[in-house]
Amino acid sequence: MKGIVLAGGKGTRLYPSTLAISKQLLPVYNRPMVYYPLATLMEVGIRDIYIITQEEDLALYQKLLGTGEQWGIQLSYGTQSSPRGIADALLVAEEFLAGDSFALILGDNLFWGPHLVEQVSTAIQKLKGATLFAQQRADVADFGVVEFDDSENPISLEEKPKIPRSHWALTGLYLYENKAVGLAKSLTPSARGELEITDLNQLFLQKGELQVEKLEETTFWQDAGSHDSLLDLGCWVRQTEASLGEEIANLDKIARLKQWV
Ligand code: TTP
Repeated sequence: MKGIVLAGGKGTRLYPSTLAISKQLLPVYNRPMVYYPLATLMEVGIRDIYIITQEEDLALYQKLLGTGEQWGIQLSYGTQSSPRGIADALLVAEEFLAGDSFALILGDNLFWGPHLVEQVSTAIQKLKGATLFAQQRADVADFGVVEFDDSENPISLEEKPKIPRSHWALTGLYLYENKAVGLAKSLTPSARGELEITDLNQLFLQKGELQVEKLEETTFWQDAGSHDSLLDLGCWVRQTEASLGEEIANLDKIARLKQWV
């Protein structure tokens, strides 16, 4: 299983902070935002990871993260000349993936919880088609939304619905078998000019190959895409680290615990 961290995008909701700096390089409390999704991939045992950035930001990410050797992982890089959508990542990463299954994680998403690693690792082992992760939210207007039937099977997906069919928001962690790359090639851009990840997931749903896991209730998930969520997330990390007495997304420590260095 390989990993992709999607760290491109314009970050318009964070203007002017992101006019000159890529969103995922901004700090969330005591480390750059991109460390958090990277930590999640490492924690579930993924060591071969592709970072996708905007062309103009590539050198900064390489300066920050390097080859990954310092953490016993392998980092390589790809670029988007414009933000063509989350599903575009699969096209950019096709060569890197070389036929393998992969986990795609959004560069502004933070996941944390005592049962997260176990839940995602199990999903990786069972992967057939695509697996997504969902969490209940009072307000789902900014998210992909999944509706379940009585047996907890996904029956519909909607992208940022005005009147949602459920309150289960889809998180920024996606597991795919490699056939997702071929399916992504069949997508056409949406009205906002992007290859939509929801359209790709819809194809898996139609084929009966979409699983959606409800995140354990103890799992924390939040993105840092707005001024409020960025500030809230920084405060959350500070408080959680203080109460736990340990750091979140300390890549050196994860690498040591995994005995990768
Ligand atoms: P978004 O938050 O949807 O987009 P954005 O980061 O450009 O922010 P804004 O809405 O404020 O303009 O993107 C979610 C994540 O996916 C984020 O980490 C950036 C990344 N992304 C890419 O890497 N490439 C893309 O083409 C898109 C659309 C997003």
